[in-house]
Amino acid sequence: MCGIVGAVSAKECTNFLLAGLTTLEYRGYDSAGLAVLNNGLQRARAKGRVAELASKVAKGDIQGQVGIAHTRWATHGVPAERNAHPHISEGLAVVHNGIIENYESLREQLQGLGYVFTSDTDTETIAHLIQACFKGQIGEPAENLFSAVQCAVAHLKGAFALAVISEEEPDCLVVAREGSPLMLGITDEGHYAASDASALVSVTQQMMHLENGDIARLTRDAVMLVDAQGQAVEREVVTSHLSANAVELGEYDHFMQKEIFEQPQALGNTLEMISGAGQLQPGIFGAEAAAIFEQVDSVLILACGTSSYAGLTAKYWIEQVASIPCNVEIASEYRYRQSVANPNQLVVVISQSGETADTLAALHHAKSLGHTHTLAICNVPESTIVRETALRFITRAGPEIGVASTKAFTTQLSALFLLTLLLAKTNQRLSKENEKIYLDELRHLPVAVERVLSLEPDIKAWSLQFANKHHALFLGRGRHFPIASEGALKLKEISYIHAEAYPAGELKHGPLALVDADMPVIVVAPNDELLEKLKANMQEVSARGGQLYVFADGDSAIRSTNGVNVLTMPEHYGLLSPVLHVVALQLLSYHVALVKGTDVDKPRNLAKSVTVE
Ligand code: G6P
Repeated sequence: MCGIVGAVSAKECTNFLLAGLTTLEYRGYDSAGLAVLNNGLQRARAKGRVAELASKVAKGDIQGQVGIAHTRWATHGVPAERNAHPHISEGLAVVHNGIIENYESLREQLQGLGYVFTSDTDTETIAHLIQACFKGQIGEPAENLFSAVQCAVAHLKGAFALAVISEEEPDCLVVAREGSPLMLGITDEGHYAASDASALVSVTQQMMHLENGDIARLTRDAVMLVDAQGQAVEREVVTSHLSANAVELGEYDHFMQKEIFEQPQALGNTLEMISGAGQLQPGIFGAEAAAIFEQVDSVLILACGTSSYAGLTAKYWIEQVASIPCNVEIASEYRYRQSVANPNQLVVVISQSGETADTLAALHHAKSLGHTHTLAICNVPESTIVRETALRFITRAGPEIGVASTKAFTTQLSALFLLTLLLAKTNQRLSKENEKIYLDELRHLPVAVERVLSLEPDIKAWSLQFANKHHALFLGRGRHFPIASEGALKLKEISYIHAEAYPAGELKHGPLALVDADMPVIVVAPNDELLEKLKANMQEVSARGGQLYVFADGDSAIRSTNGVNVLTMPEHYGLLSPVLHVVALQLLSYHVALVKGTDVDKPRNLAKSVTVE
């Protein structure tokens, strides 16, 4: 989703701004722009890719030491140059992430004051509002840009991160945060701002995370910061562990491919704390975990997208292994549903980014209902969600750039399996013997995933058969139904093939009507307690001329025949088998997308981190 980069530096900053936007491309966007101060405001904007903006900047010879830049993912107004940020109001330029909920009434008020709007965005309202505050048309005349931004922010409702520059104060950059992430990069030769740490690592590892309500004035030598109450505050400068090459492609063609192949390492890193452990300690979920787990009588998982499928898989584990009831709700539904709160319930929010607006709002809603036992499973330690829960587990997948989530998903699964074991242990449902067996299986997981990756050539060969397909069905049963759902999501996200997942037993209640020779049916077929039932479901497909693509365990006794294509998974993996099967489905989607020629890492209309509702 939208991305912000800003700089006030001793050096020319346009290249930094463009490089920062390129780094943020993965978030998803449809237009880009930048503005710099150099004897007046210079602006360039382009619909489409950052590369198009870069060529405009080069042609116009736009240069300066103070500037702001933005990638826009359209919410208010179509993707078009006139709607791209920065938005300008008489020598003052603004970039903005988030949504201003009261922009219509503000727009009317500002039009009444004579301001002329040239875009359909909510952001342009902010530019004119700051200008009106500056001139004293709204409130007292502001002393400087900083107090004009303070005045404007007080009138805004919604979520935002802002960066503002003005010809009136050509040596400073003002930023504000309310709800959308924003961080500062601290160096000796200047100060930088970005909505995502990855855009800053090219200049510094020293970062300051702004809190909600913070407004900061950045000059080359200083950062002046006030909190929501207008009190001067200092925020800790932390050293980011993100390395510049962690967000580079290296030997790979796409980030999705890189991230699929990074999974053994990502799982190894995430599970490092149990590498030598004979038994599990609740402390891996936080200091208060032991006390909280003692009180827990049920689990409620809240998440969106791929993270919600991790939650649905965990439901099978938690109920089977820990004998604790577990519900999984889509965060955007839960937040608006009247639910019955149970204070002994553990509320688990799962999020790769830790910034997904609906997941964050669902967490706030749960807390407002009196839930205090909250746990975040998240891939970004500094994210908002992590800072707002009682317990936390940080998956160590490393930065995930491809919009389609892969290594974040499998590391979430490993974290959820650890949670399952700890809840089972607390609930006296886990024998010492089983604990050791499960820990050994977890430790072996990176190797097992590595073996699945070796199936790539066969999966690639299958992908050619999807070149002219428009629809696909995914079938699974039990804990592999959420994996089938994740497989369908991956395929539709990046190849634009319409894909749906069904629990295989449900086939005859509707989807069987769709099955014919043109409908590939992908089946997740581990050798588990439901295998025989699943085989009967596959027969139903074959009998209607459907083409089956089956990921089977070696001992599933399913053979390739006419219309039945079988790939044998390297290992039979019991409860953790979902982790292996999903890797095979990720590879299938990736190769089908290559065959289709789509933009694998930046699929149309989608965003990596969905920070608006
Ligand atoms: C977007 C991404 C998905 C992701 C979902 C939830 O839709 O494109 O890949 O699964 O958001 O994101 P989160 O960061 O909360 O896991």
